[in-house]
Amino acid sequence: MRVPTLDLQAQYATIRDDVNQAVSRVFETQGFILGQGVKDFETAVAGVCEANHAIGVSSGTDAILVALMSEGIGHGDEVITTTFSFFATAGTIARTGAKPVFVDIDPATFNIDTTQIEAKITSRTRAIVPVHLYGLPTDLDPIVAIANRRNLVVIEDCAQAIGARDSRGRQVGTIGEYGAFSFFPSKNLGAAGDAGMVTTMDDTRASKLMKMRVHGEIEQYKHAFVGGNFRIDALQAAVLHAKLPHLAGWTEKRRQNADLYRTLLEKKGVTRPLGSEQALAGSGGVIVPVEPVGYRHIYHQFVIRADRRDELMAWLNSKEIGARVYYPIPLHLQECFAGLGYQQDDLPQAELAASQVLALPIYPELTANMIEYVVDQIAIFYR
Ligand SMILES: Cc1ncc(COP(=O)(O)O)c(C=O)c1O
Repeated sequence: MRVPTLDLQAQYATIRDDVNQAVSRVFETQGFILGQGVKDFETAVAGVCEANHAIGVSSGTDAILVALMSEGIGHGDEVITTTFSFFATAGTIARTGAKPVFVDIDPATFNIDTTQIEAKITSRTRAIVPVHLYGLPTDLDPIVAIANRRNLVVIEDCAQAIGARDSRGRQVGTIGEYGAFSFFPSKNLGAAGDAGMVTTMDDTRASKLMKMRVHGEIEQYKHAFVGGNFRIDALQAAVLHAKLPHLAGWTEKRRQNADLYRTLLEKKGVTRPLGSEQALAGSGGVIVPVEPVGYRHIYHQFVIRADRRDELMAWLNSKEIGARVYYPIPLHLQECFAGLGYQQDDLPQAELAASQVLALPIYPELTANMIEYVVDQIAIFYR
């Protein structure tokens, strides 16, 4: 049996007509830049995300960048974020000229350890960028409390978390000042290329973002500030609008797949208790991802911690199972950030996670048989 990391062709087969018609309509009008189709998508996706405003942009990376630029963050400023994320989270901070300041993670959730944030704040700190990694929301209450006390902006990196909710039922991207989303093709809601969006509850910030994405233009050829070309393509907005009604069902399917993995891994006796990550080496087992009480994880990734991770991955890959590592090197140890002066062991929880994490295929079109096959192969490996 073959269980790929992702199967976008299987998804496309179920929505081919809707997507093709949406694309065709854009070609008929030849309206490729912004316009009514983009507005309609933004209204629809804002509704689904329960945000007051959604501004379509060119990528998830640009969504973070444009939010930072909108706040005037740049040289001399510091921005606090998690060290365990995709590169764009920190790359965008560095691109503004600001200094990324990295915080370790909570080993249970893989998200930023909120208890370690305050100690990293200086007079130069301007913003906090928490990441809802793999689709599980970071607990934002303590972050918002710190931000309010210290007059900082919160930019939620929601790239992996569209539709996720915290224990108070709030959707990601509606709690901080900004939510930055990615529609990279592999995301739960994926475009046919690069696209992203910024959400905000604040009318003034929304209005500035709309200008930022068109070079800070306030009237034709009049520029109040320096923005960029951060527009979402009309073609991408059309594809995303056609796919949007399916998102809730796809997410539900991912959640069911996660439940089935948990049940089967437990049955096979390979599950080790949460919190045992320090003792995982030599345990012959895995720790399954946690969904804290009341939270709605959307399982962009289903990430286990595994004893002998690299060997397990090689074993699964040899059985045509698309298990992958997100992410093998924490951001504070990336070569491009060597100048920031971090050393090995500075942020030990993230470093341990980077050596243990393994994402199993979780996409909605997986069948129960495929999940059973993956779990069987994990059990055989540890036998
Ligand atoms: C956590 C995180 N932040 C930011 C991004 C950047 O998004 P994009 O690839 O759309 O630029 C991604 C996606 O790849 C991501 O996973």
